[in-house]
Amino acid sequence: MTSRDQILSLFRRNLGDFVSGQEISQALNISRAGVWKQVELLRELGFEIEAQRSRGYRLLGGPELLLAEEIQAGLGNARIGCTLECLDEVDSTNARARQLAEAEAVDGTVIIADRQSAGRGRLGRRWESPSAVNLYCSILLRPQIPVQQAPQLTFLSAVAVAETLNELYHLPARVKWPNDVLVRGAKIAGLLNEMNAETEQIHFVILGIGVNLNMTAEQFPAGILYPATSVLLETGEAIERTEYIRCLLNKLDQYYSEFLVEGFVPIRRRWEALCELMNADLTVMGHSGYSWPMARLSEFWQVMLSRCKVSGTEFKLPA
Ligand code: BTN
Repeated sequence: MTSRDQILSLFRRNLGDFVSGQEISQALNISRAGVWKQVELLRELGFEIEAQRSRGYRLLGGPELLLAEEIQAGLGNARIGCTLECLDEVDSTNARARQLAEAEAVDGTVIIADRQSAGRGRLGRRWESPSAVNLYCSILLRPQIPVQQAPQLTFLSAVAVAETLNELYHLPARVKWPNDVLVRGAKIAGLLNEMNAETEQIHFVILGIGVNLNMTAEQFPAGILYPATSVLLETGEAIERTEYIRCLLNKLDQYYSEFLVEGFVPIRRRWEALCELMNADLTVMGHSGYSWPMARLSEFWQVMLSRCKVSGTEFKLPA
């Protein structure tokens, strides 16, 4: 934990009360001047902190920061989130997860950033990632499953993202194709899952999840390719990001454990219950321009389960 995270967590444990300079200095193992410096840095970040000579410091308010310790406090003994890194800023959480994976980070490691300077979307697109409003998260998994089953984890993450939105905010979130979550036809979340494998063995999978939580209409880029929305725009209320993250990670943990024991069938059922395309005729388009028409979703599953090339595939409704 950084000094900033430590001092904030101390304030939050004593919410409404003063914490003496001495207590902070001991907890953080820094000098009294160092404490003052940390308080000033927090004020610059928008935190309102009262200082009284005889009593110490008291947190009065400020932006919601994502703190690893606070998120983990709501996770129990979960595998997903057992190791959790919260960063102020990173180029891409997926890139950071890859770095950690190559340095032997454990199954279930989670990276969350407040802001991404080069957030990545599918097909080489950019994922708009302003600070303090959304969730940008990557989860490192090391499943012992056949390589061709790895794309099933994309369905698992889409289901967890959509169900969490529905349960916490009563939104009609639906999954459209493996990588999108929509509310009333507008995209609220995107998934960018990546894999490192040999022919026979998965080294790791990275589930990259971006969810628009408190993003305002002005924060969406001009000329966006598709209608987009956020929880704030749908409900009219800003939500607590930490609560969403805890529920999402708990759900992912539950479904991942179930998937490792029972396989894909329970996830597939949940995905179908949330799917927009259940009764539509589909055409599957490959990157190379190769396409094949399919009558119904059941054929899609056959293709999915046999070829499993989700990341290079687009699904298109016939005109
Ligand atoms: C899409 O194009 O729909 C996929 C968007 C995925 C965005 C998330 S945000 C967290 C993770 N890190 C990234 O750079 N991208 C994914």
